[in-house]
Amino acid sequence: MPDQKPARFVKYGIIGCGAITERYIDVFENLNTACVTAVADSDLVKSKSMAQRFNCQAFKNYHTLLANQDIDAVIIATPSGLHAQMAIDALNAGKHAVVEKPMAMTLEQADAMIYAAQKAKRILTTVLNNRFLPATILLKKTIDQGAMGRIISGSTCVNWYRPQEYYNEAAWRGTRLMDGGVLLNQAIHHIDLLLYYLGEVKHLQAYRATLGHDIEVEDTAAAIVQFKNSAIGTINATTCAYPKNLEETLTIIGEKGCVVLGGPKLNSIRAWQVDEISPNDVLEVPKWYGHYKVIENVSLAIIEQREPLIKSEDGKKALELIWRIMANSQLTKDVSNGL
Ligand SMILES: NC(=O)c1ccc[n+]([C@@H]2O[C@H](COP(=O)([O-])OP(=O)(O)OC[C@H]3O[C@@H](n4cnc5c(N)ncnc54)[C@H](O)[C@@H]3O)[C@@H](O)[C@H]2O)c1
Repeated sequence: MPDQKPARFVKYGIIGCGAITERYIDVFENLNTACVTAVADSDLVKSKSMAQRFNCQAFKNYHTLLANQDIDAVIIATPSGLHAQMAIDALNAGKHAVVEKPMAMTLEQADAMIYAAQKAKRILTTVLNNRFLPATILLKKTIDQGAMGRIISGSTCVNWYRPQEYYNEAAWRGTRLMDGGVLLNQAIHHIDLLLYYLGEVKHLQAYRATLGHDIEVEDTAAAIVQFKNSAIGTINATTCAYPKNLEETLTIIGEKGCVVLGGPKLNSIRAWQVDEISPNDVLEVPKWYGHYKVIENVSLAIIEQREPLIKSEDGKKALELIWRIMANSQLTKDVSNGL
């Protein structure tokens, strides 16, 4: 954790006091560059209870939070379909906007958010926290310095389990307009990493289906992709891996070496066959670490008036690839598996 106190402190407001906001409690307990001044949730009971834990103000209406002149930046942790409008409102109110993933549901929404950020001259970023893990950082460095040679293949598998109760417990989950499906909600972290490591995708072929849940969107998807650099790979994602999360892996094959990352947080090295770089120094990190690093990075960017590591365009790029996968595939439904 940083030892030097920077010249200024960033004051955050958080909109949405649900499951992911719990993680921000650990984040802010460990940060010395920022604090939470207010939280808002349309459910005032949740907002008040979260405010007690942050020792801050509680609001029901997020516009009241945005009217607070003391707040520099806002974290948007509401159902995904609400991100775009809330971020635009925050930017128009002069706040920097840190938006939970996915940044938006559609490319039109992402463009409107980016325009609002440019107009307001404020930072717009999204929480792609897996980019900040020691293992994913080491892999980025290894690829970028050429230690794996030309990249031949890059693939990801997100075989997770979400029971029907997960979708039933919040009305937005599993819906087209608010959740978007396994690619937008779960695999976006891994899709972002593939783009981060290998660059843009040239061609793809994809399938999407709802196979294990009673929901509007896909719970299973697969795509074969060819990147502009000619590398080929696959994206596999499901929330049907009964009875519990099976794996999340990222496999990169280069002409001079291969790496497989996995583990519950993608911070374990499953295989490392790279001669030039040793993976010995990969640190174990707590569950909240990625979020901690995102907020640390954005806070320093605000203080130093520079860009954060994750740009709004990165959030849009992941969204763009997911929309290409969606456009290339028809959503089929067969909950009974009776073909
Ligand atoms: N980065 C990650 O690893 C990660 C992990 C989990 C969730 N998320 C993202 O975080 C977001 C929230 O997910 P969650 O699991 O915490 O959901 P949740 O349903 O547990 O919480 C959402 C909260 O938003 C509140 N809310 C709804 N409408 C509102 C409004 N108009 N104004 C203010 N508050 C409102 C709800 O009352 C609820 O408390 C989603 O976009 C999700 O994709 C990111």
